[in-house]
Amino acid sequence: MAQNWTPDGWKAFEAKHLPSYIDAAALEAAENTLSSYPPLVFAGEARALQAELAEVCAGRGFLLQGGDCAESFAEFHPNNIRDTFRVLLQMAVVLTFASKQPVVKVGRMAGQFAKPRSAPTETQGSTELPSYLGDIINGIEFDEGARVNDPQRMIRAYSQAAATLNLLRAFATGGYANLRQVHQWTLDFMGRSPWAGRFSDIADRIGEALDFMAACGIDPGSVPQLQGTSFYTSHEALLLQYEQALTRQDSLTGDWYDTSAHMLWIGDRTRFDGSAHVEFLRGVDNPIGMKCGPSLEPDALLRMLDTLNPGRIPGRMTLISRFGHDKVEAGLPRLVRAVQREGHPVVWSCDPMHGNVIKSDSGYKTRPFDRILTEVKGFFAVHRAEGTHAGGIHIEMTGQDVTECVGGAVAITDDALGDRYHTHCDPRLNAAQSLELAFLLAEMLNLEAAQRPAHAA
Ligand code: PEP
Ligand code: CO
Repeated sequence: MAQNWTPDGWKAFEAKHLPSYIDAAALEAAENTLSSYPPLVFAGEARALQAELAEVCAGRGFLLQGGDCAESFAEFHPNNIRDTFRVLLQMAVVLTFASKQPVVKVGRMAGQFAKPRSAPTETQGSTELPSYLGDIINGIEFDEGARVNDPQRMIRAYSQAAATLNLLRAFATGGYANLRQVHQWTLDFMGRSPWAGRFSDIADRIGEALDFMAACGIDPGSVPQLQGTSFYTSHEALLLQYEQALTRQDSLTGDWYDTSAHMLWIGDRTRFDGSAHVEFLRGVDNPIGMKCGPSLEPDALLRMLDTLNPGRIPGRMTLISRFGHDKVEAGLPRLVRAVQREGHPVVWSCDPMHGNVIKSDSGYKTRPFDRILTEVKGFFAVHRAEGTHAGGIHIEMTGQDVTECVGGAVAITDDALGDRYHTHCDPRLNAAQSLELAFLLAEMLNLEAAQRPAHAA
């Protein structure tokens, strides 16, 4: 258990990107309500995820983490949850087959609401209003009333997270995630993709493997692993008032867990010495992620690791690098070397989204798909060169056919961005772009496997 830690101890530290609420009594009432509500996840589940991540740490597995940049009240619909879950599963099948290793599936879902923003206010014409901070805090409409921070929104976000998680659990274990079916979805998708020829080899081999297993009597009817899957939730632990209210002491071990999600991460803007967010997360025993951007120095990273994982527990820490397509190869090696030198066990994951945002000619915030791929390739190249395991991918994506990131095999052009641009914050990969990325990752993982010494295969 962390030394000198209490769930509200973060309040004595420097908190960036936390909203202020004008009505202190209303905030306290909402916090009390949340504190009295059931936990969303159980400590045992968070420990199971940590054990799976410990395997990734040891080079035996791959972390696939993805979902919305910001979940919203408006996009809350069973079809959206189903479609995002479905694409993550399709990606996982492709990755599992390529790497011959387990893929740990974690959604940016069921709690990914609060956003750090680059500017505290937004100006339209001559009107300046507070920025939108995510549906759990205020409203996206450019209207004075909507932009007031409202603590009751935390209660609504909790309810949405609970319902989302309930549906995800049903999908994961209730037969929907049957391996044969997931493979069939991928085949259906490939028929429409201009890259179908290139990928049909992998698809054929997966199909043959399933046929072979079925002939041996190994099918979803006889083996539960083929019938369902494990699926975990995660979000940025930004809104500490919400996180604290859902933090509970595990009755089995006495340890503290943030029961709002299985895994929580610290954003690039809140991971500094003396940060309230770091202070809060050091005391909860969930697996923790930390974003690592270009401004992070190796010494500062090592201090963070000592604070967040003093016991050096494998699976506790996932480092999510987000440098940008043109900076990753120069910036990442010094961090990898420092962590290696000090012997900290970590999962290295790549967020190829947050360093690659540009403003398009048409005025939309977008991310060129080729830059995303370039960052992923650079990330794998660094790990190949350093002899470390490229352990995961962290993406903003949706199962919907949105037009938010330009490029991809079914090319989204700058002019088309306005067609279906629905995100509440950053541009997401659509279903086709996500699967295309999975096939590129498969190639990268094959390269890594080819380099692995035979005894470790
Ligand atoms: C995010 O993942 O939504 C995010 C804000 O990322 P970062 O902290 O890396 O900027
Ligand atoms: Co984002």
